[in-house]
Amino acid sequence: MPTPGTFSTSRQDIAGVSIAEIAQQFGTPAFVYDAAVIVERIEDLEAFDLIRYAQKACSNIAVLDLVRRHGVVVDAVSAGEIHRALRAGYQGGVTAEGVHEIVYTADIFDADALELVIEHDIHVNCGSPDMIDQLAARKPGAEITLRLNPGFGHGHSQKTNTGGQQSKHGIWYEQIEDCKQRAAQYGITITGLHMHIGSGTDLEHLAQVCGAMQQAVRKVGNSVTTISAGGGLPVPYNADQSYVDLEKYFALWDEARKELEAEQGHSIQLEIEPGRYLAAESGNLVTEIRAIKRMGENMFYLVDAGFNNLARPIMYGAYHPISVVAGDESPREEVDVVVGGPLCESGDIFTQEEGGFVSQRSLPQAEVGEYLVLECAGAYGSVMGSNYNSKPLAAEVMIVDGQPQLIRQRQSYDDLMRGERLLD
Ligand code: LLP
Repeated sequence: MPTPGTFSTSRQDIAGVSIAEIAQQFGTPAFVYDAAVIVERIEDLEAFDLIRYAQKACSNIAVLDLVRRHGVVVDAVSAGEIHRALRAGYQGGVTAEGVHEIVYTADIFDADALELVIEHDIHVNCGSPDMIDQLAARKPGAEITLRLNPGFGHGHSQKTNTGGQQSKHGIWYEQIEDCKQRAAQYGITITGLHMHIGSGTDLEHLAQVCGAMQQAVRKVGNSVTTISAGGGLPVPYNADQSYVDLEKYFALWDEARKELEAEQGHSIQLEIEPGRYLAAESGNLVTEIRAIKRMGENMFYLVDAGFNNLARPIMYGAYHPISVVAGDESPREEVDVVVGGPLCESGDIFTQEEGGFVSQRSLPQAEVGEYLVLECAGAYGSVMGSNYNSKPLAAEVMIVDGQPQLIRQRQSYDDLMRGERLLD
């Protein structure tokens, strides 16, 4: 398990490459990922039989390709994510070792997703009973996994809690019998069970899932050969937060799995499905400070990235570490500032708490034209980007072995209006 680093408010480089040089080469705002961090996080989880990356966290095809080269398989929640997985070299169907490289996990099929699932023989993890009937109509005799809602959940925000009665996710744990009957009717086999109770949770809540999973496997019976612990592993975004004890976490799941194996009389594969854990700390959003101004008690640093680039603060009051890239070696005092973006909306503030309350952050004194880095932005950063205020999506850059490579061009203004047309 990695030890949480200290968060410094000033820095000059990412993975040994000068931030100023990256900014000059690729422009700002730009997401900059350190490939080595992703690889380290994969290695942390190698006790699990299979790591299935929840690509929703950061689905750039270069990231998918990187994790694929390190033996990680992938989850897809939409037709778009299936296309990305295929583009990055993953295949549908099942490998000789019995692994589904791509699993479609969702609560509905839209028309495109169902079509792709059939066309590429993608394994489906059904999050609603209706999906069983819809899949069966196209692929009778299929093998499926059920995503179950165990009746409880937990996340870093109520918006990321995916269990319990308030959640739309998964199949309610008391509906297993109904699903078994539906499946039997169409010759469908339930080969796996999956539970994901929320994102950014803690060991106490994650541990409860093991027992719920055991009960569910017993209800489904011995067709189950795979169980998935879901994702949810937290990463520290500030000095008060920490990682989950991965050894303890694995030991709990391994014990639960072994008990099930003994009861069911065959081996059971244990999967984990992290998104944030693999991607968050590798990513940094590099911005340029474009204005510094005072509003009464508050000093604002206004940068060229907004919630169109990083939506987590406005959506969840999420805290991201921030650092300033000083352009010279002059001594810098720390000052309390509010960091905001360029959007025409008051909520476009990176230093805010849940509920939209603006807060201050102690950062080095800076000047217009210097760079500012929003850190731990690799997960749910660029993927949640939008074109609000007609801002192009940011560039993405990955540093591999000390070399920055462009992995997504900044959108052009033609890209921005692609598909739109004037009235006849
Ligand atoms: N598996 C399933 C079925 C999920 O729904 C998710 C996340 C994951 C795995 C990965 O969870 P992770 O390991 O990343 O916690 N936008 C929010 C997070 C939403 C998570 C959605 N589902 C945020 O920025 O915090």
